[in-house]
Amino acid sequence: MAPIVETRDLFKFFETGGARTPVLRGVSFALEEGEFLCVMGPSGSGKTSLLHLLSGLDEPSGGAVLLQGRDLAGMSEHERTLARRRTIGYVFQFFNLLPNLDVMENLGLPLAIQGRRPEQHRAELEGLLDRLGLADRKGHFPHQLSGGEMQRVSIARALAGGQPVLLCDEPTGNLSQKAGLDVMRTLRELCDEDGRSVLLVTHNPRDATFADRVLFLVDGELPAEPVLRGPGLPVEDVHEALAALNI
Ligand SMILES: Nc1ncnc2c1ncn2[C@@H]1O[C@H](COP(=O)(O)OP(=O)(O)OP(=O)(O)O)[C@@H](O)[C@H]1O
Ligand SMILES: [Mg+2]
Repeated sequence: MAPIVETRDLFKFFETGGARTPVLRGVSFALEEGEFLCVMGPSGSGKTSLLHLLSGLDEPSGGAVLLQGRDLAGMSEHERTLARRRTIGYVFQFFNLLPNLDVMENLGLPLAIQGRRPEQHRAELEGLLDRLGLADRKGHFPHQLSGGEMQRVSIARALAGGQPVLLCDEPTGNLSQKAGLDVMRTLRELCDEDGRSVLLVTHNPRDATFADRVLFLVDGELPAEPVLRGPGLPVEDVHEALAALNI
């Protein structure tokens, strides 16, 4: 079966003040269905840029992105948008919840964007909130939630449209140690029990230990070695790999 997400020789340049800065320089990898893949890299290594290219928040300068074996470049703009909306849920580092909508309304957004009616999926959305330990937070507004709760709402929102892939950008970066651990356990469970595929980008070694496979992004390239395999990877192995790569 084709990987659920794949990149081939992906390039991204940014033009700033007449200079062309390469951020991604030939990145190729595959996320298999049901896999939990972690891409680690230092600040500025291109992690967020990579997720933006996969989710359609930005367009590549070269190379290909394939979703479920289909090259996005071969699609019309409209097909590309639909393919991304159906396939990808995005968990942002800073949650990106809409402040004037309560938890249920935030959760309904991906459905509304897909042209579906959130009211008709209430039971499903409530099930998701239960699942994420947010059953009694439905009517809360984002400012009435803790950081960990906001992040769990944003995970629920990324799942709400039924997308099989979760892209997570440093999802514990703004959480306490304990809230971060809860979020990581939730992501692991979503792979193990629901068969979702997770692509996590982070510079947090602890978070990397939850993944099935850890790749390292250095200066816009994914070095072939080392590749670490988990889950349940000792955190020392991650530290060792980072030290060996000088990051
Ligand atoms: N829109 C943009 N225009 C110009 N340069 C950009 C733009 N977006 C990102 N960059 C540059 O690209 C590089 C990679 O940025 P990116 O946000 O992908 O890094 P990151 O690995 O996510 O870092 P962090 O861990 O700090 O979040 C940085 O040097 C950044 O300044
Ligand atoms: Mg980033």
